[in-house]
Amino acid sequence: MSHDLFEAARDAMAFSHAPYSKFPVGAAIRAEDGKVYRGANIENISFPQGWCAEPTAIGAMIMGGAKKIVEIAVIAEKLPLCPPCGGCRQKIAEFASSSTRIYLCDETGVKKTLTMDELLPHSFATEVIG
Ligand code: THU
Repeated sequence: MSHDLFEAARDAMAFSHAPYSKFPVGAAIRAEDGKVYRGANIENISFPQGWCAEPTAIGAMIMGGAKKIVEIAVIAEKLPLCPPCGGCRQKIAEFASSSTRIYLCDETGVKKTLTMDELLPHSFATEVIG
């Protein structure tokens, strides 16, 4: 991974709206169009209405016209190697392949690399739906 994806995730974290948890998270996706799409977590005073950094980045990717996550970096300033939560794993999987790379970062760069398969083994998928 080139350093720019890490930097995009780190910079995205500055946009976090996390007044309740005070736990800023940033995510950056490199999509099949070669562009980088960023996201931060956006919390809400009605707590369950808030959402994670990863879906913000996925929304940016979709609205940018891209459909495939080639690689994704995630960073949280208070937790080096912040693993995407369970719900985010499923959301990432929707636009990933089993070999898509997920980079867990600290403030200096990528510290751990996982494939989609490693991050979400036995993921929900069925031909019955599509
Ligand atoms: N959070 C993310 O943005 N991504 C994750 O994968 C884990 C959790 C956010 C949600 C909430 O705003 C804060 O971290 C604390 O849970």
